[in-house]
Amino acid sequence: MAQSRRTPGPQELLGEGLFGPDRGGATERALALDEVDPTQSGPVPTGLAELDRVLGGGLVPGSVTLLGGEPGVGKSTLLLQVLASMASAGAPVLLVSAEESAQQVRRRAERLGPLPAGLMLLATTDLSGLPAALADTAPALVVVDSIQAVFDPAAAGTPGSLGQVRACTDLIVHLAKLHRVPMVVVGHVTKEGTLAGPRTLEHLVDTVLGVEGDRHHALRTVRATKHRFGPTGELGLFEMNDSGLAAVTDPYRLLLGDRRPGASGSAVLPAMQGQRALLVEVQALTSRTAPETPSRRSAQGVDGGRLALLLAVLEQRAGVSVMRTDVFASAVGGIRVLEPAADLALALALASAVTDRALPPDLVVFGEVGLGGEIRQVPHAPRRLAEAARVGFRHALVPESCPDGPAGMEVVHVRSLAQAVALATGSSAPLDGGD
Ligand code: TYD
Ligand code: MG
Repeated sequence: MAQSRRTPGPQELLGEGLFGPDRGGATERALALDEVDPTQSGPVPTGLAELDRVLGGGLVPGSVTLLGGEPGVGKSTLLLQVLASMASAGAPVLLVSAEESAQQVRRRAERLGPLPAGLMLLATTDLSGLPAALADTAPALVVVDSIQAVFDPAAAGTPGSLGQVRACTDLIVHLAKLHRVPMVVVGHVTKEGTLAGPRTLEHLVDTVLGVEGDRHHALRTVRATKHRFGPTGELGLFEMNDSGLAAVTDPYRLLLGDRRPGASGSAVLPAMQGQRALLVEVQALTSRTAPETPSRRSAQGVDGGRLALLLAVLEQRAGVSVMRTDVFASAVGGIRVLEPAADLALALALASAVTDRALPPDLVVFGEVGLGGEIRQVPHAPRRLAEAARVGFRHALVPESCPDGPAGMEVVHVRSLAQAVALATGSSAPLDGGD
C-alpha cells in the first residue's frame, strides 16, 4: 500500500533493495519447500480474459513482462486496455509513455472507452523520475512503452542502444521487485525479428509475450514464449476493430469465412499456434513468366525459403512443372505458418494452382516435405486432426506415421509428394475411395 512505498535511495537501488526484505519471496534462511507459501505471489487478473488465459491467470506482482511485436500490431492498444480495465476496477495504474504524448494517449484512451479515474500517466523518455512516480502513485500495474524509447541518464548511450536498453530493464526489474508491482515493458521487434534489444532482453524478464498479426488484417494472436509462472502453450485471439482489441471466440469467421470451396490453388492446413491447432487456408497462384524476365516468387505468411524448396521438389520429384512460372503464395487472414508441417499444404496448393484442379473442399493436409519428395512426420498430429474434425472437415492427407483420426474423419496416409498430388488433385483414385 501507499505508506509502505517510498522512493528508494541510490544505495537501495544498487544493493540493499534487491536483497532486502522487500524482495518478493526472497528468504534469508533456507526453508523446506513445504514451508513456502505457494499462494503469496499469485497472478492478478488483467481484466482481459483472453490475455489472462495466456498468462495462466494474470500478472504476478513483482514480475516483469516483455510484450514484443512489430510496430503497429497493437501493443500500445492492448496495454492501454489492460490499464483502463484495472483502473476502472479501482486500482491505480501507471503508464510511462515515451513514444506518445500525453494528448495522444488521452485521445486513444477516449476511443477505447470512458476515461477511467486512476489511470496515471508519465509522458517522458527519462526513467529517472520513475522511482518517485512509483512511490507517489503506488500503482497496481506499471507499463513502460517502449523500452527502445526510454533512457536512464546514469547510463551511457542513446535510447535504444544495447547499453541503455539493458540499464533501463535492470532498473525496471529492480523497481518491480522493490514495490512488488507487475511491470510490463513494450519491445518493438522488426519483421526479421533481429533487433538486438528485445531478443537479448528475454533472459532479463520473467515473461515474454508476443503479439502477432498482419496490420492489414484484423486477427491478432498473443502467445507467451517464456513464462516463469505458468505454461507457454496458450494462444490468445483478438480482433482489432474501431474500439481496440476484442477477444475472438470464433476465429474461423476471420480465417475461413471468405474461402471459396472448389477453387483451385487452395489447401487447408491445421497449423499449430503455440499448443493450439488452428485451421488456416494456404493459397497459391501461378502464371507464366513473361519472356526475358526472371520468375517471381512471392511469399506472404509462409516461409519464402520453403516455398523455393517445395517448387524444386514439385518439379524434380512429383512431375509438376513450375519452371518459368511466377508464383504467389500466402496464408490467409494475416496468420503466419512457418512450421515445416505447412509444407504439404503449400505444395498441394501450388500443384492445384498449376493443374487448375481444386482439392476436395472438406480436406485438410499437413506434413513436412523432404528433399527426396518424401512426406515426413510432424508433431501434434492428433490435435490437428481433432480440430479439423471439430470444424467439419471430413478428409485428411497426412504422413504415414500419423495416427488415425477421430470418428467421422477419413485419414489417408501418404509417403510421397507425387502420391499426395495425385490423390489430392484427382489424377489418381478419388480420396474417399480408401487408401
Ligand atoms: P498500436 O497499439 O499503436 O500499435 P503498436 O503499439 O504495436 O505500435 O496500434 C496500431 C494500429 O491499430 C494503428 O495503426 C491503428 C489501429 N487501431 C485500431 O484499428 N483501432 C483502435 O481502436 C486503435 C486504438 C488502434
Ligand atoms: Mg505503440
